Amino acid sequence: MYDYDLLVVGSANADLVVGVERRPSAGETVLGSDLAVHPGGKGANQAVAAARLGARSALLARVGDDAHGRLLTEAQRAAGVDTSGVLAGGAPTGVALITVDPSGDNSIVVSPGANALLTPGDIRAAGGLIAAARVVSAQLEIPLETVAEVVRTRPEGTRFVLNPSPPAPLPPEVLAACDPLVVNEHEARVLIGDTAGSGPEGWARTLIGLGPRSVVITLGAEGALVADRRTDVVTRVPSPRVEAVDTTGAGDAFTAALAWRLGLGEGLVEAAGYAARVGATAVTGTGAQESYPTAEEVVAP
Ligand code: RIB
Repeated sequence: MYDYDLLVVGSANADLVVGVERRPSAGETVLGSDLAVHPGGKGANQAVAAARLGARSALLARVGDDAHGRLLTEAQRAAGVDTSGVLAGGAPTGVALITVDPSGDNSIVVSPGANALLTPGDIRAAGGLIAAARVVSAQLEIPLETVAEVVRTRPEGTRFVLNPSPPAPLPPEVLAACDPLVVNEHEARVLIGDTAGSGPEGWARTLIGLGPRSVVITLGAEGALVADRRTDVVTRVPSPRVEAVDTTGAGDAFTAALAWRLGLGEGLVEAAGYAARVGATAVTGTGAQESYPTAEEVVAP
């Protein structure tokens, strides 16, 4: 009945990555490795991650009419993602400047470029694509008004998953549609304005109070916390122990796996458990999309 298990509406960036011994502080210059250019962007990453796992996925995004745009679109096609919703032109392709340290942690600055030109009108024009998807997932590297239009355009019954990254205040209509709202610790703190350190369980309950149907907080090596408005229960989901090489894009792999499995009918806790295994596998490889596993490669619990 649906053509796609997952439609991702979001960003596509060329990731310009340099390995460093130490990420620089203000006013500091450090030398790094040779530059590597990888396909990235939180939206494009999610679409590829889901496709690698076996989902029928599609991407609705905007890239520039340039070499980076062609690299990104080709990476989507190579992974089996439907790119009929990838628009081109209007501004240069988005770029992410990424430094990765020896522990695998990263710092990212994004220049949105064409991502900022994905408009509410583009969403309305893609109504057929949206209606053909069982689950629609979005992030915030595209304009918030565009994400709000996704919420309005999707048919009733189409599940909506949002990773508000980078975090920004969310309108009530967007919050109320999230099932789940997926955040990491940083995003959780920003959304609830937490400085007192109430801890992940407290953040989950506070976030649920903002209106989403469910919340998932990713906690890196500590797994994830799942909170469901329908049951009023907060559940911790473990992550397998792995050796981290590069955490870039692991959260995107987690969210894509979660969204896909929810669409297949799994419960939130079960789907988050699978997503934690996918995210853990992704941190064992370099880059974002290159590190995403097939279903057979996902590490054991
Ligand atoms: O989540 C990782 C992604 O964030 C990178 O691929 C980069 O493009 C930024 O969007």
